[in-house]
Amino acid sequence: MTEAKPKVDMEKLVSLCRRRGFIFPSSEIYGGLSSCWDYGPLGVELKRNIKQAWWRAVVQQRDDMVGIDASILMHPQVWQASGHVEGFSDPLVDCKNCHKRWRSDELEGDKCPECGGELTEPRLFNLMFKTFVGPVEDEASVVYLRPETAQGMFVNFENVLNTTRKRLPFGIAQIGKSFRNEVTTGNFIFRCREFEQMEIEFFVKPGTDKQWFDYWVEERLNWYVSLGIKKENLKLRQHDKEELAHYARDCYDIDYLYPMGWAEMEGIANRGDFDLVQHAKSSGKNLNYYDEESKEHIVPYIIEPSAGVDRTALAVLCDAYDEDVADGEARVLLHLHPSIAPIKVAVLPLSRKETLTPLAKEVYAELRQQWMISYDEAQSIGRRYRRQDEIGTPFCVTVDFESLEDKQVTIRERDSLRQIRVPIEGLKATLQAKLDGEDLFVLPDGGKIWKGG
Ligand code: GAP
Repeated sequence: MTEAKPKVDMEKLVSLCRRRGFIFPSSEIYGGLSSCWDYGPLGVELKRNIKQAWWRAVVQQRDDMVGIDASILMHPQVWQASGHVEGFSDPLVDCKNCHKRWRSDELEGDKCPECGGELTEPRLFNLMFKTFVGPVEDEASVVYLRPETAQGMFVNFENVLNTTRKRLPFGIAQIGKSFRNEVTTGNFIFRCREFEQMEIEFFVKPGTDKQWFDYWVEERLNWYVSLGIKKENLKLRQHDKEELAHYARDCYDIDYLYPMGWAEMEGIANRGDFDLVQHAKSSGKNLNYYDEESKEHIVPYIIEPSAGVDRTALAVLCDAYDEDVADGEARVLLHLHPSIAPIKVAVLPLSRKETLTPLAKEVYAELRQQWMISYDEAQSIGRRYRRQDEIGTPFCVTVDFESLEDKQVTIRERDSLRQIRVPIEGLKATLQAKLDGEDLFVLPDGGKIWKGG
């Protein structure tokens, strides 16, 4: 079997993201801030669509899950109990010659990879960002920016249990920002100091944890495929004993084939009863669950599928990137799945002539009630199609002079370049069906094939 290769190099992708307004360096006018990124007008839509797809799959469409939105700043004892104050650190070395800093566990030899200089002894560096609550900056007022959203769900276990009357097995889901003062940075949005996580804490009866762990590994892998990511670019990787985090009994990473190689996009861990036991001990609260069946108090085990929004965004962009020739001209296109494409449909009047504008604007106004729509009348129709292809817009609707007579428009499909002509009346329903995956050549009443086939 031939090994899969990444299709796009990072430089090309970064350039496209910058050029088209997906992602900019943070505070760019001041030279940027290392490993912080701003999502632009298209990036914010892509990210929202990813988060919405996740929420729909894991909360909206399930009976056994509820969502929360916990605060980023939490009681400092949370991070004592979780083990983060003690152990959430990377071993660091400095080059005595060029003063560059490295993670010693990522180095191959004992010399500086940049200049070959001698390195200092490793010392541990805690990855949590520290700050202070209130006006006094002393030890008593230290708080941390959360390095994961997970703890917000553990400490709310009892609140959720008591207010929702959920019984085991059930889960809590959360999407939110996390912060880590990462030592090794780079690879665009793969490793950021501020990033977003989509995490589930799924509480189960001890003894059923293995079965639920397997269930979630499969469920989460399938979710990425449903976003349009190719199966051959996804891989499951089980952690060996040495690699397992202090809280984990078992863990699989879902790796994606990024431009720099295979790397973690999501981790699914069996955390056992570690978290509830730790927080019960530290808070003095009873975090047990009364099991009606066995008439016993038990501490649930937790299965944790923990995904990164930014790493998912990077994966879908890499996976969608393509270059081909359309109508005799080279084009760059993103084969984004319609559910996550930032713009669903572009409305393009064939020309800027005043006679066409009112009808084109009318079509645009109608469609934007339902989706993010783009309206573009500048330059030739070919250039405008390519602009939409490059940002992954699945369909273009063209309003031409015949439209004024026959009240029909053409729909052009991004990937196949096929076109159909359909009545404006019912256009919304036709587009909805196509966005949901119906073949373009399944025609509505009064529609006809226009191009391709
Ligand atoms: N609660 C468990 C936890 O946080 P993790 O493996 O450290 O586990 C989970 O993080 C996911 O969060 C990763 O798989 C990745 O997608 C994302 N992630 C972690 N650190 C990140 C960073 N510095 N930049 C971007 N995403 C990150």
